Amino acid sequence: MTTRIIGTGSAVPNQIVTNDDLSKIVETSDEWIRTRTGIRERRIASAQSGTTALAIEAARKALENAHVAPEELDIIILGTSSADCCFPSGACEVQGAIGAVNAVAFDLSAACSGFVFALNTVHSFIKAGIYKTGLVIGADTLSKLIDWTDRSTCVLFGDAAGAAVVRAEEQGIIHLEMGADGSRGNVLECGGRTTGNFLTGQKPELGYMSMEGQEVFKFAVKTVPETINRLLEESQTSKDDIKYFILHQANYRICESISKRMKISMDRIPTNLENYGNTSGASIPLLLDEMNRAGMLSRGDKLVMAGFGGGLTWGATLIEW
Ligand code: ACO
Repeated sequence: MTTRIIGTGSAVPNQIVTNDDLSKIVETSDEWIRTRTGIRERRIASAQSGTTALAIEAARKALENAHVAPEELDIIILGTSSADCCFPSGACEVQGAIGAVNAVAFDLSAACSGFVFALNTVHSFIKAGIYKTGLVIGADTLSKLIDWTDRSTCVLFGDAAGAAVVRAEEQGIIHLEMGADGSRGNVLECGGRTTGNFLTGQKPELGYMSMEGQEVFKFAVKTVPETINRLLEESQTSKDDIKYFILHQANYRICESISKRMKISMDRIPTNLENYGNTSGASIPLLLDEMNRAGMLSRGDKLVMAGFGGGLTWGATLIEW
């Protein structure tokens, strides 16, 4: 018994922010952003609609796509690093909103690897025979963690959510890989609340995201091919048997560099980051949902999904659609 994805959904805010829009608030240009990252525009959440609202919309669409009722869900995991509240968790808010009265729900924090880690975690419960039906969500609104005066980060990110309904079936997840290196966490970080209490005499303050761009670039183009190669080797699968490599949508140049290193043509590495930027935990399920709804996936296709990001964390899953 394994875990099969039986439906997908996604949601993005209505507000489109183009590279030209950003050039009005920081010293940058459409040309710089496009040539360095491939990004043309991104969606930015409104004050009223944060991570939870996007996650709920994506979840509803995934359930509809899977023809599964909310009461059938046993578990909901939301991969996010930008939950609207410390508690309740975003997953519990989704559970309440959609009426998944029989599901346990919790968030999982693995930055841009969040969806892959959440999928692999739900799979572990299903494989162990504990649960049968799950909802896996990746959702982030990093726009609220960004310093909008820092041109080196603010041009890269966008807000979105993607979701997949999964069920215990004979075909589905074939193999998985996950890893972390906490000793290098400082290359991509976002401070939480500072210690503010009656002893320190300070108010808690929230930190912004910071990133050593070139270090993240090097980490991604080295670790992702290594992880995928291990995944294929351990599952005795040839890379020629994989229809699509669905990579975390951080930067077009990262995808291109992975394509060259692995000798995989770019038509097998789909991208949509030109329209959404880096949507962190949402990027893989957002792309998967677009591909699913565009009819690009057929039963039996082998796909690799690979995420990488803050932590540092990385993970990959080989599935049969
Ligand atoms: N517009 C114009 N100029 C800029 C901008 C901007 N938005 N940002 C930086 N610059 C300038 C810098 O100040 C620097 O100027 P200087 O030469 O006068 O000092 C120059 O451009 C080059 O800066 P670098 O940081 O060296 O630019 P680089 O070519 O490395 O590109 C980038 C930066 C796009 C961030 C790249 O390092 C990268 O793609 N890194 C991967 C990181 C990534 O994708 N992170 C996403 C989040 S992580 C994740 O999802 C896992």
